[in-house]
Amino acid sequence: MHLLTVEWHSPQNPTGKVFTWNELEIIAEACRSRDCLAVTDEVYEHITYDNVKHVTLSLLPGMQQRTIITSSVSKTFGVTGWRIGWAIANPIVASAIRNIHVKLTDSAPAPFQEAALTALSSGPDYFESLRRDYESKRDYSIQLLTGIGFQIRFKPQGSFFLFAELPESSPLSDVGASLALTDPKTKVAFLTLIIPCLLVLMVQVEYVKHLIEQAGVVAVPGRGFFHFNSVSSESEESLSACHDYQKRYIRFAFCKSSATLEAAAQGLSELVDTKGCLNLPPPCKTDT
Ligand SMILES: Cc1ncc(COP(=O)(O)O)c(C=O)c1O
Repeated sequence: MHLLTVEWHSPQNPTGKVFTWNELEIIAEACRSRDCLAVTDEVYEHITYDNVKHVTLSLLPGMQQRTIITSSVSKTFGVTGWRIGWAIANPIVASAIRNIHVKLTDSAPAPFQEAALTALSSGPDYFESLRRDYESKRDYSIQLLTGIGFQIRFKPQGSFFLFAELPESSPLSDVGASLALTDPKTKVAFLTLIIPCLLVLMVQVEYVKHLIEQAGVVAVPGRGFFHFNSVSSESEESLSACHDYQKRYIRFAFCKSSATLEAAAQGLSELVDTKGCLNLPPPCKTDT
């Protein structure tokens, strides 16, 4: 077996995509044919919606020996600060992981380990109500965001994130400043490729900054979730892909109390224009 690994997470952050058996089979076949291991991150394994079920890659034929499952109590029990997680692997790999883990991190805090054990002994009712609670928060958040012009192209099947496309009316559709630097005649890769992408990030950051300051709502710029290959390539297509997608998405998290979600709805509703769309000032404009 090679030390080549495939890293995989489902349900996925930021889109909430839950991969099906057939989709996982593509990954499994790649691992089998190349004789390599897969490391899966299954922290959202209990948070799935619409009766969609999480499938672990290790269940696929020939994958039990090849899969290192990682997960944690963070998301299932709402204790992200604890950093209590685990890896499940075949005995040889598990022993190597234990050996490295002891030397690198020592052990997790004992009280948290005991609490995690209690949490993991929860009955099916706990997991069912967790799913129901988040599913209604997902639906509430989708309705809220789409109602004011955001586009949710992929309805999350799991996790607690919404990867939302900015409203069409958003001034970001006009990236005047960065387009000026994309003149195809310019031969300098730094100007044509890297600077526009950085500007896109800055523009997104400006957008989320306005959201925080004016609506009290925090979102994460989507740019960080995209592949960076486009920056290293000099092709026009890559550059345009960078502009087409990476500037348009931000990630919202709906793992909040109902009171917090309602306060967000209230904050956003105060910025809605007469057409019912979120009306943020142009992101690049400096306040005077
Ligand atoms: C896919 C994924 N894996 C792991 C983590 C972190 O888990 P933990 O809090 O247990 O370190 C996150 C947190 O955002 C996540 O989204």
